[in-house]
Amino acid sequence: MGSEKAKEVVAVYPGSFDPVTNGHLDLIARGAEIFDRLIVAITRNLEKDPLFDVKERMEMLETVTFDWKNVEVDVFDGLLMDYARARSASVILRGIRAVSDYEYELQMAMMNRKIEPRIETVFMLPGEAYSYLSSRMVKEIARLGGLPKGLVPTAVEERLRAKFS
Ligand code: PNS
Repeated sequence: MGSEKAKEVVAVYPGSFDPVTNGHLDLIARGAEIFDRLIVAITRNLEKDPLFDVKERMEMLETVTFDWKNVEVDVFDGLLMDYARARSASVILRGIRAVSDYEYELQMAMMNRKIEPRIETVFMLPGEAYSYLSSRMVKEIARLGGLPKGLVPTAVEERLRAKFS
C-alpha cells in the first residue's frame, strides 16, 4: 500500500479562449497548483465566428502559460468528454464568476456527467478582481478603442490592438 505510487491527476480546462484574459490566467494558476497536470484545451468548433483563429489563440495561450511546467495547451474537436477520456483526464476544470454563470455551467456539467460519469467537473472561483471580466467584453471594448490595462496579458493586448488598428 505505502509503496504504491499515487495516480497523477490530469485536469482539462476547456474553453474558447477568444482571447485568453487575466481571469482565465488566474484560474490556470489555481488549477496548476492543485492538479498534477493541467491541459488548457481550446475548442475548434465555435458557434460564432471567433476573432482569433485557433493558431492565434494557441500561440497566445502558450506564451502566457510558458512558466508553468505542468500546464499544456492543446486544441480539441468534437465532444469534450471524448477528448478528456482520450487524454486520461479525471477532472474538467471550469470557472464560475458570478451566479449568472451557474445555470449554464450546471447544465453543461450535468450533461457531461451523463456522457461520462467517471470524469468530475470541478468549479473554481477566479480572484474577485476578475469576476466581471469576459472575452466578449474585452473584444467589444478593444474594437471601440478603449481597452484599459490589466484585463488581458500584454501579449494579448498587443494582438488586440493590431486587430483593430
Ligand atoms: O469558454 P466557453 O465558450 O464557455 O467554453 C465552452 C466549451 C468549449 C467548454 C463547451 O462549449 C464545450 O465543451 N464544447 C465542446 C462540445 C461539447 O462537448 N459539448 C457538450 C457540452 S455539454
